[in-house]
Amino acid sequence: VKPAASLAIATAAVALALPASAEFAKPEDAIKYRQSALFVMAQHFGRIGAMVNGRAPYDGAAAVTSAEIVADMSKLPWAGFEPGTDKGGNTRAKPEIWSAPAKFKENSEKLPVETIKLLAAAKMGNLDTLKTAFANTAGVCKSCHDTYRKD
Ligand code: HEC
Repeated sequence: VKPAASLAIATAAVALALPASAEFAKPEDAIKYRQSALFVMAQHFGRIGAMVNGRAPYDGAAAVTSAEIVADMSKLPWAGFEPGTDKGGNTRAKPEIWSAPAKFKENSEKLPVETIKLLAAAKMGNLDTLKTAFANTAGVCKSCHDTYRKD
């Protein structure tokens, strides 16, 4: 097979494997994906929260581990908010996410920016620095939930 022909075959295979636009096979999968990413992120964000609020002893290494997970996970949920996933499954997402997607995207892009700072703060090994970064990150969570999540 000539290189050009094999490329054509590879392209055709990719086109067959992927649906026209959706990244997920069904809306329920997209909803599960975003909720799972948010859930895992929140578990680790909560562990840092317990340390900064004095409910758990400060453990610098554990804070870095959790902050790394939070920083990674904070990039993931947003792909799961694709069009057509406002219903199905047990979603608390509000319709505003899809009626003004650019504004929602803007909000979602703030999170990884903040969680990178949280990770940097955790690595400094100073509880006060961590407290400030935690509060700043929590502010981004809250402002998005206030607008885009049903309670
Ligand atoms: C850009 C908006 C946005 C930001 C920022 C955001 N969230 Fe959310 N979050 C949502 C939306 C929307 C839902 C509802 C998703 C659904 O039910 O489909 C949600 C759901 C959740 C859930 C429930 C997941 C589940 O099990 O169903 C948790 C926990 C959560 N968020 C935690 C956080 C934490 C912690 C942060 C900050 C570190 C954060 N979120 C930042 C929009 C956001």
